[in-house]
Amino acid sequence: MIKMIALAVAMMLLGMMVVEVRGSAIPEQQMMGPEESRSRKPRGWIKDQLELEAAGLAGNMFDFYRFVHDSKWIGGKTEYSALDEASPYWFNGLVPLAFGLGDDRIEKQVKYYLDYVLDHQQKDGWLGFETTRQTRGIWARCLLLLGLTQYADADPSQTDKIVDAMHRYVVLAHNMLNNNYTGLLVHGNDIFDTAGFGVGRTHEMHIPLQWLYEKYPRNNSQIIWETMELMIKGGEVWGADWRKFWTESGYPRVWSETSPYNMSWVFIHGVNQAQGLRYPLSIYRMTHDEGLKRQTRLAVDLLAKYHKSLAGTIIADEYITDLSPSHGSELCITAEIMFSMAWIYQYLGDNDIADWVEQAAFNALPVSISPDWWSHQYIQQENQPWSRNLTQGSSLWVDVNSYANVFGLEPNYPCCTVNHPQAYPKFLANSFVRTNDSGIAHVFLGPASLTTTLADGNTVSVSVETTYPFGLDINYTISATKPFPFYIRIPTWADTSTSTVTTSTSDGTQVVSPSASGLQKLFIPAGGTNTTATLSLATQPRVVTRADNTAAIYYGALLYSLAITYTETASPPRQYNNLAILPNSTTHAHAHDHVLVPTSPWAIAIDPSQIRVVHKSGDDGRKLASPIWALGAPPVELRVAAVEIDNWPVRLDSPANPPSKPRAGAGKKVFSARFVPYGSAKLHMAELPVLSLAKIDLV
Ligand SMILES: *[C@@H]1O[C@H](CO)[C@@H](O)[C@H](O)[C@H]1NC(C)=O
Ligand SMILES: *[C@@H]1O[C@H](CO)[C@@H](O)[C@H](O)[C@H]1NC(C)=O
Ligand SMILES: *[C@@H]1O[C@H](CO)[C@@H](O)[C@H](O)[C@H]1NC(C)=O
Ligand SMILES: *[C@@H]1O[C@H](CO)[C@@H](O)[C@H](O)[C@H]1NC(C)=O
Ligand SMILES: *[C@@H]1O[C@H](CO)[C@@H](O)[C@H](O)[C@H]1NC(C)=O
Ligand SMILES: *[C@@H]1O[C@H](CO)[C@@H](O)[C@H](O)[C@H]1NC(C)=O
Ligand SMILES: *[C@@H]1O[C@H](CO)[C@@H](O)[C@H](O)[C@H]1NC(C)=O
Ligand SMILES: *[C@@H]1O[C@H](CO)[C@@H](O)[C@H](O)[C@H]1NC(C)=O
Repeated sequence: MIKMIALAVAMMLLGMMVVEVRGSAIPEQQMMGPEESRSRKPRGWIKDQLELEAAGLAGNMFDFYRFVHDSKWIGGKTEYSALDEASPYWFNGLVPLAFGLGDDRIEKQVKYYLDYVLDHQQKDGWLGFETTRQTRGIWARCLLLLGLTQYADADPSQTDKIVDAMHRYVVLAHNMLNNNYTGLLVHGNDIFDTAGFGVGRTHEMHIPLQWLYEKYPRNNSQIIWETMELMIKGGEVWGADWRKFWTESGYPRVWSETSPYNMSWVFIHGVNQAQGLRYPLSIYRMTHDEGLKRQTRLAVDLLAKYHKSLAGTIIADEYITDLSPSHGSELCITAEIMFSMAWIYQYLGDNDIADWVEQAAFNALPVSISPDWWSHQYIQQENQPWSRNLTQGSSLWVDVNSYANVFGLEPNYPCCTVNHPQAYPKFLANSFVRTNDSGIAHVFLGPASLTTTLADGNTVSVSVETTYPFGLDINYTISATKPFPFYIRIPTWADTSTSTVTTSTSDGTQVVSPSASGLQKLFIPAGGTNTTATLSLATQPRVVTRADNTAAIYYGALLYSLAITYTETASPPRQYNNLAILPNSTTHAHAHDHVLVPTSPWAIAIDPSQIRVVHKSGDDGRKLASPIWALGAPPVELRVAAVEIDNWPVRLDSPANPPSKPRAGAGKKVFSARFVPYGSAKLHMAELPVLSLAKIDLV
């Protein structure tokens, strides 16, 4: 197997940088030098999406949204909780957006924030505005530091200043943690984290501190190292050690399971789980205990089996709710899952984990964000025929309110407003990785380009043209000053007996021959001329069966859903907790909440033996509409034999679990149902009951 080495360091600081193991032998990974941040550029639809993100909520919050614009971190007055995490979340997502896109306006926003926060570092080294033991929690600093490391890599003119500040902060954090875990454990009348969010996420300091340790340790290695150890120990003292949770006996198969599972709430919280996936590997980087790698694989498998949604996220509202298609998943979970799986992939190299990243990126993420990026949901349901204030209060959910599936400014809670921006910029940042044989691998197959110099001095340029995941052909143009191996990841769903690759340097078209970990190797010669290559993936629609005689349909990396047409009504944004109309001082002319009411049936059963792929007219295989994640915009759809049924009740103002014995409604005819990519279907039905139906023409 080829080892992956993060190319994305500039934006992502990723795993492959070496943490030297004290007293241990040779570092396992070879770090291959820092990357110039502007090395990766979005192209095609990914560029369109990042531009929409910058023009939408993400790129405008700085100017109007109270939890960012008026954040206490930059001299304002407003935080949504004592965690003080809002603007650090925002910063962590906007830094890679600014530099990934090369957008001056966004760069100015993050520069202002950077300058303000560093210029106001307190005398004792504290980063942030809090001045008392009671209010100083470490947790939000983890997010800030994640943003700072990306900034330092992206803009070398700021690196020294950032590194200075981080060192001063680490010395203070080390002292605090040595004093009975001050800032992590709540003592006496401390208010910074009475629930336990920070103490459930102790490993979140590891990624930035490992970056500091490896790249700019100065004379501080010992303190940095001990700070990481103290974080983990503090978590253990409190009862939040994810190594106990990610086990066959510790992991809750169903939400109601109480025995032998009996751990803190922190473990069954969806966002915590998405973040906690990173815990074992964070420690692995210090101990090189191979068991922690195996445990990470187990964690991924347990999650996939018991709590993974069809769209690639964790079903949790906001505690895990098994595989129910009417419960839902919080948008923050998707953002964190994408980051976690991309990071984990670079250690384990398991092909299905990279597929998982794409699955979340092409399904769970876009479905919860409006096509123009001005509104988002808190909760997405896999079966979601309407999006509005639910009539039965919060009774459907474990712990969210009636407004949670509304597309809006801050439905249910503002965390997703400030944390959703990181998802696509980091996806782009991780789409290419280095391999340990001085090569490059393209692992997330969207359109992008890369110019970089490898460790051996080879200057490489790669340009990817594709409409993937809508189209299955990917064109590469590659040049290099020295010969090198270029790898393309072949997704697990591709039919390797009929997928082909054509290169300008070899004869004709070959059937792909990927390695065991799914990498197709191309040999790129040196020289002034470009090598061109085309990968043509072949696949068929896939039917995945779920409990109670239900099924879902995928085609390539896309989940498909029944297309539900709807009317949309916009209204002024409401406050997350009391649903009062927000004052104009914290909204924007483009920010609205939206009610989506269906105008076509949703209660159907399908016959998955009758599916047809439809390429829409106008699909030239090269150009996609923008915004692409809108109903009708994707160029490929499916037709599926279906019938309306009459025994699918509504429960608590959402579809009940699908009936296991669906019954065709009286007089209802079998019809050719239109299925569209789930990410484009803001109203959708993805997990449907199965019936054997009369053969029809799938027009
Ligand atoms: C450490 O903090 C915990 C929790 O506040 C407290 O119960 C314990 O007594 C403290 N220990 C010391 C040595 O101060
Ligand atoms: C490390 O410490 C030594 C001795 O105290 C000092 O001379 C040197 O400048 C320090 N190096 C850095 C990078 O801070
Ligand atoms: C589970 O936790 C509860 C509350 O902390 C405790 O009362 C109970 O004894 C525990 N049960 C087991 C089986 O450990
Ligand atoms: C939302 O629905 C709840 C009932 O579920 C109702 O009490 C509340 O008034 C509604 N609020 C708005 C703004 O529609
Ligand atoms: C790359 O990593 C793999 C897996 O650890 C190893 O077998 C191989 O020898 C390495 N290749 C080079 C060139 O270091
Ligand atoms: C790939 O290149 C071929 C040959 O130039 C062209 O026909 C095709 O449209 C290209 N596909 C994309 C997605 O750019
Ligand atoms: C190689 O491809 C790049 C990008 O596609 C293009 O800008 C450049 O002109 C090409 N070089 C040659 C020699 O064809
Ligand atoms: C807020 O702005 C909208 C339009 O920009 C206006 O109609 C409305 O009256 C304003 N509300 C308040 C409370 O100022």
